[in-house]
Parts: sequence; structure tokens; C-alpha cells
Amino acid sequence: MKLAILSRSPDCYSTARLTEAARNRGHDAEVLDTFKCAIDLERGAPDLYYRRKQIEDFDAVLPRIGASITYYGTAVVRQFQEMDVFCANTAHGINNSRDKLRSLQLLSRHHIGIPRTTFVHSKRDVLPAIERVGGAPVVIKLIEGTQGIGVLLAETVKQAEAIIELLQSQKQNVLIQKFVAESKGRDIRAFVVGDRVVAAMRRVAQGQEFRSNVHRGGIAERVELPPEYVETAVRATQIMGLQVAGVDMLESNSGPQIMEVNSSPGLEGIETCTGLDVAGAVIEYIAAQVDFPEIDVRQRLTVSKGYGVSEIYIPEGSKFVGKTIRGTQLYEHDINVLTLYRGAKVIPNPKPERVLEPNDKLLCFGKLEAMRGMIPVKTRRRRRPEISDLPADAVPAGTAEVSD
Ligand SMILES: Nc1ncnc2c1ncn2[C@@H]1O[C@H](COP(=O)(O)OP(=O)(O)O)[C@@H](O)[C@H]1O
Ligand SMILES: [Mg+2]
Repeated sequence: MKLAILSRSPDCYSTARLTEAARNRGHDAEVLDTFKCAIDLERGAPDLYYRRKQIEDFDAVLPRIGASITYYGTAVVRQFQEMDVFCANTAHGINNSRDKLRSLQLLSRHHIGIPRTTFVHSKRDVLPAIERVGGAPVVIKLIEGTQGIGVLLAETVKQAEAIIELLQSQKQNVLIQKFVAESKGRDIRAFVVGDRVVAAMRRVAQGQEFRSNVHRGGIAERVELPPEYVETAVRATQIMGLQVAGVDMLESNSGPQIMEVNSSPGLEGIETCTGLDVAGAVIEYIAAQVDFPEIDVRQRLTVSKGYGVSEIYIPEGSKFVGKTIRGTQLYEHDINVLTLYRGAKVIPNPKPERVLEPNDKLLCFGKLEAMRGMIPVKTRRRRRPEISDLPADAVPAGTAEVSD
């Protein structure tokens, strides 16, 4: 295969290792400086130039887009996608991962552990938000920080309010997040390729530091991940729309909790710590995908008028409960069930004989008109927090005397 590695630094460890791994496997690999790619648009002919020469014959692209050039970088990746070149991570996936709020919003509806997080704008909402995530100490995060910069621990509610006020006055968007104290300054980095974790490490913060980032002095050790951590990392990667990712998780009392999913994960730390050939795993995955690429369904479906993907929720008492999928007559209405969601379980291509249970969700492809009639009025979920979830000294929302 002829592989383009999109990177601004051909000599950095990760890019150099990926290039070497590709060439060692007999592939033709070239590092393209993302900023030297020029995008041309014309009816029916999306085009790319590299150093004023037309780009034509790449089979695959491996984007290594730094956080500081997300906009230009994802534009170039999107152009390759439009030219039908296989991209190991799509522009959509990279954009999702760059925004910590967007990532958690996407993950939050799935049964994936995340630290309880809030995002507020109004000054009045700050105090209740801190209480909702468990009170002080509390973590405050910039939405687009990396390497631990922009992640703070406020010891008291007063400190937290002051920090948030200061950041907001500088037009920064901040997340307020539960401090997962039991993780004790440690976190897990799982390197996901396709539907596998190919390497994993635990990073341990040093001294008084609670952030375990290697850039903050964190020390890495090799770990064998329990299946729950592997599954969480792989599912999070898929939900973000990524295929190559570094998933950061805290080890909480209730299992793995995802902090972020990185779309250009570094190789140096993890290869050094584990002794594994992570670069090789990435290249072999891409080579296999090139022959049989997955398609971004959302993009392609818009062309079949009147058809689309929708979710059918089956509430308690629905006439579908206790019926088999075939028995629901969905097929007769030109509706195909792609996936069945049952609690934390995901069942792809469920068999027609499978019996439906209350609270199942069916992801379906079919005639939108027909599906519209199937979707029951939304039943509201239990609202949180219940009074009993709040700490004893919590101030009920709305009583804080703070003005905008
Ligand atoms: N909610 C939290 N509870 C405990 N520790 C946290 C929490 N959020 C972040 N950390 C620590 O701070 C580090 C950096 O946070 P992260 O969200 O990954 O930001 P960055 O993108 O800067 O790496 C994490 O690796 C972890 O050690
Ligand atoms: Mg991180």
C-alpha cells in the first residue's frame, strides 16, 4: 500500500516509528506536512495538492494532527475522505476527540463509565453544579487542554468558584468534574487499534501532583487490563468515531471512568514502557482496512430519499415486549434491525427469533415514515440528583445568593 502519514514533525518518535513500521512491512510510506497540503474544490472533483503537485495515488492516510492545528488538519483529512482515500481516523472522529465536553456528551448516553461532569455558564449555576458532582475537592478542566495543562484541583468550594470565575472572565469554557480520589493520581492509557487494545500502561503521578500525565512527571508502568477496561476503551473509541486512539481512564470504585479519548496518541511512552510494537499494529490494521474499508454510513445514507437510521425504544408495557423481532412486523414495514441495545449489551444483527424486553432499543434502517409511527412518546428518565445522592451539607439548587 502507499501510505501518507499526515504530520508536521517527521522526526518525532511517533512519526518516525510509524514510517519505519510501514517500510519494514514492504509498504511505501511518505510523511506529508499537513500545512503543505492545499485543498481544491470544484464540482464533482475534490482535489489535493502537496507542494503544488497534485496528490493522486495514496491508498491510505494516517492522520497525526496536533491539537494546535485541528481546523486545518481535519480539513485536509476530510478532503482525503472525499477523494475516497481510506483515513485511519476520520475528520469527524478527530473533531469529537478534541473537545472534552463533546466527547463526554457522546459517551454519556451509552453505558460507559465517565466521571460525573457539569458544564455551566451562569454564575448562579456554579455552586449547585459543584455540589452535584460531589462538592470539593473538585476538578476543573479547560475543554481543549492537553498534557495536563488546564486541569486543576480545587480544594474548597470557594477556591473552585474563584478559579471558574477567573477562567470564565478570560472567555474560557470550563468543565466541573467529580474528583475521583480513589484513583490516587493514577490513570490508565489504553492504545486502541480497530476493536483491540494493543497495549496499555498505568501512569502514576509523582509527589503531591494529582495529574499523571508524563508531561507532568508521571511515571508509566505496564498493566494487564481486566476485560471491563478493554471493553470500555474499545467501545469509547467506536462511539467517538475513531479507529486509532489512546483512551485515558481512571480506576474508580465503580470501574473504569473515561476522561478523554486521544486521536493522535503518542507512541514513545507506551512502546518504551511495554516493549510492544504498537506502530506495527497500527500499520497492519490500516493495511487490512484498505482492502475492505468501513463506510461512514451517515454520510452515504442521505442519498436514499425517505430512508434513514433511527432508534426505536421499547418502553415497559409496549406491545412489542415479549414479541420476537420477526413478530413485530418491522420487516413487513421495510425496516431492518441493525443493532439491539439492552442495558450495557450491544447485539449487532440480532436474530429475528430474539424476544424483545422492556427498555430495549433497536437501531433500525428503513423507511423513515414507517419508523416515525413506531416511536412512542418519550418517557422521561429519572431525574438526578435524588436528595439522598447529595452530600448532607449540600445547598439545594437555586438558593445560592449569586448574581450574574
Ligand atoms: N476527575 C478526575 N479525578 C481524578 N484525577 C483526574 C480527573 N481528571 C483528570 N485527572 C488527572 O489529570 C490528568 C489530566 O487530565 P485529562 O482530562 O486527561 O487532561 P489532559 O488532556 O490535559 O491530559 C489525568 O491523566 C488524571 O491523572
Ligand atoms: Mg489526558
